Amino acid sequence: MTSPVHDAIKDAYETIAYVGRPHHPTSPTLLAAIGQLHGLAPRTGAPISMLEIASGDGSNLLPIAAAHPGGRFVGVDLSARLTASARELAAALGLRNTTLIEGDLRALPADIGRFDVIVAHGLYSWVPADVRDALMRAIARHLAPAGVAFVSYNTLPGGWIRKIGFDALKFHTRAITDPAARVAAAREFVDLLVETWRAQPGPGKALAENFARESARDDGGLFHDDLAAVNEPIYVTGFMRHAAAHRLAVFADADPASLDPGGADAALIERYRARGVGMEEQILDFVHLRQLRQSLITHAGARPLARPDPRRAEGLHWAATAGYVRRRIEGGVPADPVGETLAARFPATLSWEELAVSLRGRGAAIADPATAVHAAWVGGIAEPSTHPITPAILPSARPRASAVARAQASRVEFIASLRHIGVRLADDTARTLLPLCDGTRTHAELASALVRAGAVAPGADTAALVERHLAQFASAALFEA
Ligand SMILES: C[S@@+](CC[C@H](N)C(=O)[O-])C[C@H]1O[C@@H](n2cnc3c(N)ncnc32)[C@H](O)[C@@H]1O
Repeated sequence: MTSPVHDAIKDAYETIAYVGRPHHPTSPTLLAAIGQLHGLAPRTGAPISMLEIASGDGSNLLPIAAAHPGGRFVGVDLSARLTASARELAAALGLRNTTLIEGDLRALPADIGRFDVIVAHGLYSWVPADVRDALMRAIARHLAPAGVAFVSYNTLPGGWIRKIGFDALKFHTRAITDPAARVAAAREFVDLLVETWRAQPGPGKALAENFARESARDDGGLFHDDLAAVNEPIYVTGFMRHAAAHRLAVFADADPASLDPGGADAALIERYRARGVGMEEQILDFVHLRQLRQSLITHAGARPLARPDPRRAEGLHWAATAGYVRRRIEGGVPADPVGETLAARFPATLSWEELAVSLRGRGAAIADPATAVHAAWVGGIAEPSTHPITPAILPSARPRASAVARAQASRVEFIASLRHIGVRLADDTARTLLPLCDGTRTHAELASALVRAGAVAPGADTAALVERHLAQFASAALFEA
């Protein structure tokens, strides 16, 4: 089962770690809800079971497991180093519902069972063909009958644009064997390339804009993504064919806006839609030069709907998206009744009944709540969940941050919120304050503890500082109700 490419991938992750982060679109309650909107049998209220393939250091899986103590969670990853740090965090959190397997997805234990949700993020494009094939086999074997699998991959044609940069970095560092020296040389070259391309007219300028963000990546990102031995983007139709060969069907993208034609010619899109499965997605990917897909897959026999059904919005829980709330604060978003209603309870969800009653109360403008909520979802205003998510809306008298957030505050850059969004804390004061919020301290006691920890500048108004941070933590869904 070993091969030079495969060994190189394993060695790479032992040499330079890959620091994970919560990836919101992999939230199982969101994925199952999208499945429901596409006609898959409702799973409302049932305990969650989730398998994460390439679970890395557990930054994505473990916060989800902590939020669903009654669920069942399994992570598998090739890297001993990353699995060890995942196990360390799982032990610190006292998780009893999670199994972390250090192993190759090509040899998954047969007895791990079936899962409502399977996630493989940041894997498919970076592994050789036999591993990609094994991933599809694992999904076919371990996905529950109406389950949803999430697979992200670099896609074409946008992938060609990034590939120019990736190839340039690999070419420039081809003779360097020491990983740290390779990363350092690549980092220097990114900046030089971006600067040079930016000064050119035409394609150079566009490439520079696209590639500029690579320079902000951490070492793990540069090494494992940009300099990776395998990095093969694929057309969405090719991915769909691969899934179909395993009797799986790609029924949606995790981003509901993926079918938004943008400025594209509506008649052209309509013509392509009529041509068959995947044609509309493919023409839109050409039109928008798409670079990344987050495909949602189920068993072909589950017969998912190609289009979400607005009627199925009923029975789900709904929340305002963080993006909508941010845009609303910044100003300039057109008033939206669904968004306004949900924003009032942000970051918590509202049940369908609560939302529908509230919308009907708004009068004739919302005669049909299901259609309005569906439009808000596709428009990036609202998002569904099969389960209620109820973080505190305001800091309580003795605020309590989730155990995950407290454990992660001083360890990682992005900590997981109760909405499974990666939150970057503002500064060292915030990083000191958050772990102190364990439900035992009043606001005044938090202020004193902060001073004792030396986390406040002399002369600062500590009480006001604490209030400001607590309000930010609450709106970032870091506090339990
Ligand atoms: C780019 S990282 C992504 C990790 C994580 N999903 C994330 O997004 O943060 C790719 C991961 O795939 C794992 N991996 C690569 N080949 C694998 C295989 N054959 N079986 C299991 N895991 C594998 C690596 O160890 C690494 O942790």
